[in-house]
Amino acid sequence: MKQKTESILKDDTTNEKNNENKILNKRNFFKLILGGIGTLFAATGLYPVLKYLSAPLKLEDSSVTEVEEDISTLPVDASRMIKFGGKPLLLIRHSEKNITAFGATCTHLACTVQYQAKQQRIYCACHGSVYDPNTGERLAGPAPKALPNYVVEFKDEKTIKITRPV
Ligand code: FES
Repeated sequence: MKQKTESILKDDTTNEKNNENKILNKRNFFKLILGGIGTLFAATGLYPVLKYLSAPLKLEDSSVTEVEEDISTLPVDASRMIKFGGKPLLLIRHSEKNITAFGATCTHLACTVQYQAKQQRIYCACHGSVYDPNTGERLAGPAPKALPNYVVEFKDEKTIKITRPV
C-alpha cells in the first residue's frame, strides 16, 4: 500500500514537471511569435525611414547646359516633360517649327506645372497659377515670376537642341 502511494505521488510529481515544461514551452513559443511579430512591425516601420535616409539627394546638375531631344513623335499642340540636368522641363509644340521649352517648376512653391492645350495655358494645380505657353510669363495666381524660358533650336527635322537660359 505504501509503495503504491509513493508511486502515485511520484507520478503526480512527474506529471507536474511535465505540465510545467509544457507551460514553459508554450510560453517560449508565444514569446517567440510575439518577438517575431514585433520585429516584423519594427522592420516595416523602419524601412521607409531608412530608405529615405539612404536615398541620394538628387540635386540639379548645373554642368548640363544643353540637351538634345527627338521630337519626331511630338505632335503639334502637344507637350512633353523631359529632364534637364535633373529638373523637369516642359516642351510645347505650337506648330511644326515652333517649340517652346520652360522650366516646369512653378515659381510659387515649386510644384510641377502642366500644359493644358484646350485652355492654351500652362497651369499649376497646387494653387492655380497660370502661365503663358508661348512666353512663360505669369498670367494669374500667386506665382511671383515667369517660368524660366529655355532656348530651342532645330538641329534637323527630328531633333532639337535646348539650351539653358543665361
Ligand atoms: S506652387 Fe504653383 S501656384 Fe503654388
